[in-house]
Amino acid sequence: PPLNVLVLGGDGIGPEVTAQALRVLRHMQAKHDLAMRIEELPYGNATWRATGHLMPPETHAAVDRADAVLFGAVDSLDRTGMPAEERARGSLLSLRKRLGLFANLRPVRTERALDEVSPFKPRTLAGVDLCFVRELSGGVYYGQPRGIERDADGRRRGVNTHIYDEDQIIRAARFAFALARGRRGVLTSVDKANVMEAGALWRQVVTALHQDEFRDVRLDHMLADTCALMLNRDPKRFDVILTDNLFGDLLSDAAAGLAGSLGLLPSASLSAPRPDGRRRALYEPVHGSAPDIAGKGIANPLAAILSAAQLLRWSAGSEAAAAELERAVTAALEDGARTADIALPGEAVLGTAAMGDAVLAR
Ligand code: NAI
Ligand code: MG
Repeated sequence: PPLNVLVLGGDGIGPEVTAQALRVLRHMQAKHDLAMRIEELPYGNATWRATGHLMPPETHAAVDRADAVLFGAVDSLDRTGMPAEERARGSLLSLRKRLGLFANLRPVRTERALDEVSPFKPRTLAGVDLCFVRELSGGVYYGQPRGIERDADGRRRGVNTHIYDEDQIIRAARFAFALARGRRGVLTSVDKANVMEAGALWRQVVTALHQDEFRDVRLDHMLADTCALMLNRDPKRFDVILTDNLFGDLLSDAAAGLAGSLGLLPSASLSAPRPDGRRRALYEPVHGSAPDIAGKGIANPLAAILSAAQLLRWSAGSEAAAAELERAVTAALEDGARTADIALPGEAVLGTAAMGDAVLAR
C-alpha cells in the first residue's frame, strides 16, 4: 500500500518552510515514482484560534492512519481558554506518543560553503558529519515518581526519577549500531556511568550488544561532559552518537551550533517496526516557529527540506532519492544560495520560496 504522509505545517514559520519541503517532496515522489498519499491538514495555535480545536477531528483521524508525519513547528501552547483536555489530546508531546516514537535522529553536517558563517570558522568545521540517536521514550523526562512534594519539615522539593530499563536501552542501541554500520562504522555511546545507575546499566547493555551482534562496528564509550567538550574541540571524530533522552536533548542542541544556523538542521523520529515491517515516523526541523521572522517570507526552508530527505530515506525507503536531495541542498549552497540567517554582510539574500526554487533547480 502507498505510504500515508500527513503534512502539518503548524504555526509561525512552520507552514512557510513546510510548503517548500512539500514542493520538493512532490517533485522527488514523481521523479522516483514513489507510492505516497500526501494529505495536508490544519494543526496548532492558529487552528485553535480559528476553529476552537488545537487538532481538529479530521486531523486526529489523519494521524491515526499516517505512516509518516512531516511537521513544521508550533508555538508554545496558548493556554488562555484552552481546555486541559484539548491540550492533552492535541499537544506535540501527545502526537509523538501516539506515533510510538523511541529514537530521535539528528544529523549534523557542516557545509564547506558555509565555513565563514560558522562561529567556529573553518578550522574545526569542514567535514563534520555526525548523527545523534537520542533515546526518546524513557529517562528522567518520564520516570515515576515525579512532582513537587513536601519533605518532613514542610519544605518543598521537586522530584524526577531517572529510570531506564534494559529493553529501552537495547532498542535504541540496536538502531544506533545498525545506523553506524551503514555509515563510517563508529558508534560513540554517551552516558554518565560514573555517577548514574541508569548510566551504569546503559554501558553494560551497550557493551553486551556490541559483543553479541555488532563486533564489526567500533564502539567508544564517552562521559556526557567529555562529549560536550569534544563536540567543540574535535567534532569530526564522531560518526553516530547514541545517548539518552536528557543528554541527547542538550548535546544535540550544542552540536547544532556547528552547522551555522538552526535553519539547516533536520530531524527524524522513528517507532519500532510494526508487524508489516514499517516504522511510523515524524520528520521536523529542529527549530521552532520563529515568531520574530514569521510572515515575512525570509525563513530558511533547508531544515524542513532536509527533513523531507529523511522521510525519503526512512519512510519511503529510497536512499537514492534522499541522497540526491541532500546533494541538491549542498549544490545550492555551493552555488551561493543564501537565506538571511546564513548570509554574510553584503551577500545577496533569497527568500523562503526562492531557496526552495534553488534546491528544485538542482
Ligand atoms: P526558534 O527555533 O523558533 O527560533 C530561535 C531563533 O532562530 C530565532 O531568532 C529565529 O528567528 C531563528 N530561526 C529559527 N528557525 C529559523 C529558520 N528556519 N530560518 C531562519 N531563522 C530561524 O526558537 P524559540 O525562539 O526559542 O521559540 C519560538 C517558538 O517556537 C516558541 O513558541 C517555542 O515554544 C516554539 N518551539 C517549537 C518547537 C516545535 O514545534 N518542535 C521547537 C522549539 C520551539
Ligand atoms: Mg531541545
